[in-house]
Amino acid sequence: MAAGKGTRMKSKLPKVLHKLAGRALLGHVLLTARQLNPRRVILITGHGAPEVIAYCTDFMPADGGFSIKNVHQEPQLGTGHAVQQAVPELGDDGITLVLSGDVPLTQADTLQALISECAGKQMALLTIEPANPFGYGRIVRDGESVKAIVEQKDASDDQKLIREIYSGIMAAPTAALKQFLSKLDNHNAQKEFYLTDVVKHAVAAGLPVRAMTINDEAQVAGINSPAQLQELEREYQKRAAYRLMEQGVRIADAARFDLRGDLNCGQDVSIDVGCVFEGSVKLGDDVRIGAHCVLANCEIAAGAVIHPFTHIDGEKLGVKVGSGALIGPFARLRPGTQLADEVHIGNFVEVKNSTLAKGAKANHLAYLGDATVGERVNYGAGSITANYDGANKHRTVIEADVHVGSNCVLVAPVTLGAGGTVGGGSTITKDTPAGALSVARGKQVSIANWQRPVKKKQSR
Ligand code: UD1
Ligand code: MG
Repeated sequence: MAAGKGTRMKSKLPKVLHKLAGRALLGHVLLTARQLNPRRVILITGHGAPEVIAYCTDFMPADGGFSIKNVHQEPQLGTGHAVQQAVPELGDDGITLVLSGDVPLTQADTLQALISECAGKQMALLTIEPANPFGYGRIVRDGESVKAIVEQKDASDDQKLIREIYSGIMAAPTAALKQFLSKLDNHNAQKEFYLTDVVKHAVAAGLPVRAMTINDEAQVAGINSPAQLQELEREYQKRAAYRLMEQGVRIADAARFDLRGDLNCGQDVSIDVGCVFEGSVKLGDDVRIGAHCVLANCEIAAGAVIHPFTHIDGEKLGVKVGSGALIGPFARLRPGTQLADEVHIGNFVEVKNSTLAKGAKANHLAYLGDATVGERVNYGAGSITANYDGANKHRTVIEADVHVGSNCVLVAPVTLGAGGTVGGGSTITKDTPAGALSVARGKQVSIANWQRPVKKKQSR
């Protein structure tokens, strides 16, 4: 179910597209659903349907094993009405599992257990006793059997004292579910067609209804507001941090750690406070990440040190940092950057789509774009590759052992021959020969006994 408006989010974005750990709430649910190998997935959209459908097509392009069928619910008359829209897409046998697009952290093994409980012969409800049951549908039991779910607004005073609530997730034999859905009405406090009323119809028809209770509130937590989204985000991040710490990763503070993708760590990795990891990130043995770094889609080899406030984003091309490299503080590595072992990239240095061979150094205030840099090159402070002529990008080749002085402009395409030196402040537009000193700047002139201008006296 992904048709609801999510009024309390107070956002233009449909609620299920808001992100938790860098992924839309609905994306989490779809990934979990996929782990169950369902025969089909039916997405019920309504509010913001075009955006929701576009997200799904983009996030999970139809492949042989998994495709999503969309049905539209307009207007939105309640959860029962939502599931009624899916009836034409449901088969006559099998099990239907109802999930909400705004409940992102349910685990596949929990759902698998619920499906086993249903086993195609009874209705199985996922339930929990939360700290505060207010607002939820209460589970009315008779021993092991569930007799009804009563919504908060319809509950009697006695029923309001029930602590066990319906999570919003159920598994039911499809044929029976379809029959009960056809019997729903909206004669209740909210004038909605409640999905939860299928329970009373099942009981009337003699189909057993069982509750499967879990203790983990995060698995059934639904998002209705920015505050709830933040709370569940922190819970997710705490769990991600503890999972990594169990593998030996040293995380300075689990409350200041954010993973928005997959992080794969070797042995003796340490991560200081305030770091964000996005997409796919691999950290080799002994890698150290300083405080407040953002690392996305990159591989950092063993022993490299990323100093504080460094931003690395490989996007689609990726970034590779060699072993023993020193990066930052305040460095920026962009897509297509490949740094060999022991490369040094210092503060306020930006590197894009460039290869730096072993031991090359750019330690201060520099730009290397579309460059191929040889071993042991020293690239001076304030130097840049002028790689873009306004229409096309060109490469700069700096061969091994070249020393580029400070404040140089290397106008690409250009090649600096091995072992050469470029004098500080040079604008290099032509290839430089190996081993030579190349200087391209105005000659220094000194005028002896220079008199500085004197300030005129001002009349009052
Ligand atoms: C529902 C349950 C309640 C349960 C609670 C758990 C019903 C009647 N009540 O209540 O027993 O304790 O979830 O969180 O089912 N939706 C649609 N179309 C609609 C209405 C809702 O797609 O017409 C979707 C919403 O987008 C949401 C989900 O269904 O993803 C649940 O709807 P919501 O309005 O939050 O139900 P609750 O009142 O919280
Ligand atoms: Mg709700």
